[in-house]
Amino acid sequence: MGCMLGGRTFSSENRQFPMTAHANPSPLTARRNGALAGRLRVPGDKSISHRALILGALAVGKTRVSGLLEGEDVINTSKAMAALGAQVERRPDGAWEIFGVGVGGFRAPEAALDFGNSGTGCRLVMGAVAGCPVTATFDGDASLRKRPMNRILDPVALIGARAVEMAEGGRLPLTLAGARDPIPIVYRTPVASAQIKSAVLLAGLAAPGETTVIETEASRDHTELMLKHFGAQLTSEPDGAHGRKITLRGQPELEAAQVLVPADPSSSAFPMVAALIVPGSDVVVTDVMTNPLRTGLITTLREMGAAIDVVNARADASEPMADFRVRGSSLRGVEVPAGRAPSMIDEYPVLAVAAAFAEGTTVMRGLKELRVKESDRLAATADMLRANGVDVTIDGDDLIVQGKGHVPGGGLVATHMDHRIAMSAVVMGLGARAPVKIDDAAIIATSFPGFVDLMRSLGADLS
Ligand code: S3P
Repeated sequence: MGCMLGGRTFSSENRQFPMTAHANPSPLTARRNGALAGRLRVPGDKSISHRALILGALAVGKTRVSGLLEGEDVINTSKAMAALGAQVERRPDGAWEIFGVGVGGFRAPEAALDFGNSGTGCRLVMGAVAGCPVTATFDGDASLRKRPMNRILDPVALIGARAVEMAEGGRLPLTLAGARDPIPIVYRTPVASAQIKSAVLLAGLAAPGETTVIETEASRDHTELMLKHFGAQLTSEPDGAHGRKITLRGQPELEAAQVLVPADPSSSAFPMVAALIVPGSDVVVTDVMTNPLRTGLITTLREMGAAIDVVNARADASEPMADFRVRGSSLRGVEVPAGRAPSMIDEYPVLAVAAAFAEGTTVMRGLKELRVKESDRLAATADMLRANGVDVTIDGDDLIVQGKGHVPGGGLVATHMDHRIAMSAVVMGLGARAPVKIDDAAIIATSFPGFVDLMRSLGADLS
């Protein structure tokens, strides 16, 4: 058992019973069933939903969030905010209200915080707790217990927080003692990760003076936009060819705010790719957030020849959005540069499905980070395709798919507790020649409750 910052480690006995695992797997089979058609809105953006709850909990007064994603990941963050002292309520009209405790005002939770499957919830809250003089234990399901947390523990240690107990390799379950006197730092993120950036900024809220994060490749900037929306003073300027330097003035009085959560582009990706690969389809997905740091998939699909039209582009207080009309298309293979990865990091499994239905080779470069997602997503994506007769290789950090214009199908896909592998495989089954089966559809509820019913409303055959 290893231990990075001193203190005790959790024993292996503690690790045998993940706090939340899907005990009863529910298999699902997707079959070809003719063209998909209709209009749909997918649930709210997961990244914005987590951040609205966390900033609402750190603000003073009543924050009201409309369109919050009510997936398991976000519900776990809402429970964590309540355990840390905020008052969190779902109103009868479906809006969520949070009465915050103010910057630095978290109280010590009575029990371990269970983040289920969510790396984002866990890592952002670790950042927020790191700036407060409280001790909290972080835990999650079997997937989250495998994921690296040193990427957060390293910067929060510089701020003055300390991991007093953790599992081997800096993994969950982990107990973090927040800083009594948080130190403002300048931190260069070692990988392009909005989670690392956000954790540092959230910890820096409680520090006096300026906390700076420098990233070499710009990652999603929802934390920055929302911090400003809640009244923090923050600047973001270009740094190098593709990077950003973000500076936050510490100890602001965050003011409670109204947040309208647009539809999640990462969830929209599933019906969009389904419409592209099923001939004759015509589908409109509405209210999709179009923050340019999230639109790498749309850029790539268009390069592949996808018929995707913007129907109605507009902006709310902090994030732009649009409706997209997507029609069945003949796709061709493309090369996706590594620099595009941060703007579509969660979309590679479903892009790989589109690539399998395209004619020609698609090379997706620079996917190292996929190895530490909800599963080893690089391996899981390749296995998903291979099990269904697609020629695919992993070359270092690159994924190479040989598209033949059709997919044989007929395979059973292991989802590895990864919601995006599950949904990508379902999409593949809607276009493949033989049905595609997944071992467990229950995990989809972490990010996209209602996925099966929404896809059925377009004409998908799922049973
Ligand atoms: C997220 C950031 C991404 C992404 C995750 C959501 C966020 O992770 O994969 O699903 O909301 O900040 P990394 O920032 O670690 O790449």
